[in-house]
Amino acid sequence: MTDPIEHAADILSKAKSTVALTGAGISVESGIPPFRGKGGLWEKIDPMKYAHIDAFLDNPETVWKVLIKDMKTLLDTARPNPGHTGLADMERLGILKTVITQNVDGLHQMAGSCDVIEFHGNFAWQSCLDCNRRVETSQVDLTRMPPRCICGGILRPDCVFFGEMIPDEALVRSQQVSAACDVMLVVGTSAMVQPAATMPFIAKDNGAVIIEINPEPTPLTARISNLPLLGGAGWIMPRLVEAIRRRLTCP
Ligand code: APR
Repeated sequence: MTDPIEHAADILSKAKSTVALTGAGISVESGIPPFRGKGGLWEKIDPMKYAHIDAFLDNPETVWKVLIKDMKTLLDTARPNPGHTGLADMERLGILKTVITQNVDGLHQMAGSCDVIEFHGNFAWQSCLDCNRRVETSQVDLTRMPPRCICGGILRPDCVFFGEMIPDEALVRSQQVSAACDVMLVVGTSAMVQPAATMPFIAKDNGAVIIEINPEPTPLTARISNLPLLGGAGWIMPRLVEAIRRRLTCP
């Protein structure tokens, strides 16, 4: 029985176009809690009350105080873990083309990944609801709630709230690269949120092999995953990259 990581390295080292789809789980080992499952944020607060655009527009001060302020504190100090750096290594080795990420923490880019599609936007920037001016989140004054633009308008993160559309370019390009890949590496997502969770199905329908990295099974595992690697991304990824390197240096 082949070691599943060795099996995955066989597949990835021969693939022509690999795409990764990542979720909150890849950032767990960077100290950022997931949304669902053990220690999940949505186990503590109701996303429909605090992460829906209508809730934000109804009461921006409460959403800033309950959700956004803590996110800023977490993301200000979060750094990439071996899960992120492993994907960046795969890109440098010519194994991985694109990362589609549902995360807004910017850790893939910080780890060195160059081609990253931010499906749900990025928390690094805020926009004014009135004049649309953009402000770096790190520059936002949190002593006043909700934080305001110099024009007096309320600031909102450049992330996709529930109830909002996915930015067109991110959606179309994600569908394109998912349809074109011959391997999709699905890392750290519960595959519960649409339309991100359709990407592995688009890939599968176009003949791709689905490799999943997650300590838990997901709705994908029994339905479309060809090779589930059960474990944390921070543990599996370095071993996977090492096994790929061995195959690239002595094929
Ligand atoms: N390595 C890999 N996967 C992990 C790890 C780890 N160390 N720890 C947890 N996981 C897995 C969990 O088992 C779970 O399947 O990561 C997944 C996290 O799932 P969610 O918290 O639902 O995150 P995600 O799939 O990204 O959520 C999608 O939902 O609330 C919205 O906008 C939010 O982008 C988010 C979207």
